[in-house]
Amino acid sequence: MPRIEIAPSVLPADFARLGEEVAALEAAGVDRIHWDVMDGQFVPNLTFGPDVIAAARKHTSLPFEAHLMVLGADAMAEQYVKAGCSRLMVHVEACTHLHRTLGYIRSLGATASVVLNPSTPISSVAHVLDLVDMVLLMTVNPGFGGQKYIATMEPKIRELRTMIEAQGLTDQVDIEVDGGIAPDTIAAAAAAGANIFVAGSALFRDPEGFEHAVTDLRTRAQAAWGI
Ligand code: DX5
Ligand code: ZN
Repeated sequence: MPRIEIAPSVLPADFARLGEEVAALEAAGVDRIHWDVMDGQFVPNLTFGPDVIAAARKHTSLPFEAHLMVLGADAMAEQYVKAGCSRLMVHVEACTHLHRTLGYIRSLGATASVVLNPSTPISSVAHVLDLVDMVLLMTVNPGFGGQKYIATMEPKIRELRTMIEAQGLTDQVDIEVDGGIAPDTIAAAAAAGANIFVAGSALFRDPEGFEHAVTDLRTRAQAAWGI
């Protein structure tokens, strides 16, 4: 039975108080911090460089994952690892040599994950599952927080869960979903086979605060898995 994890995106955070924000998320019981790195090329937005992430590193003991929405991830991968990211996540669509890039990330001592945009088929990762600890399926088109969850991704999540199980990799490869994950969408994504959930606006807009939002999301996901 895969473990359920909540990974907050800090894209909605107060960028002037990132250290305090990641500390508050840790106190609220999240499992890791999801940094949405955007280069203004692969997606029409620009966010965190390695120095920004490094500045937040000392404010929490949680693992950092870098969702690299960038062209040419190889060029900066080492800087994100040195900044304190233990997982680097690269887009299939942005990697000319995906198998080599995933191997390079692992050679840096980080774990490698692969990300698929909504239109990218599961078949594109069939031959690299042995190199990754997680596949991230986008449930929005990348670039911004606060977008609407794309429910037509659920059969894709199910297809990936079937592929992982068929390759006997259930204990090695998690399925993360990212985009529009909220109290009214997380159960369906979990029921389809996702076990790690990125949430940005659902956490930051909860009037009852982070702990309430995290507990509510985790409870809904666990219920969908029958835990
Ligand atoms: C979008 C990012 C997501 C996004 C999630 O490109 O990869 O992580 O920030 O934000 P919400 O949860 O608000 O959709
Ligand atoms: Zn993301």
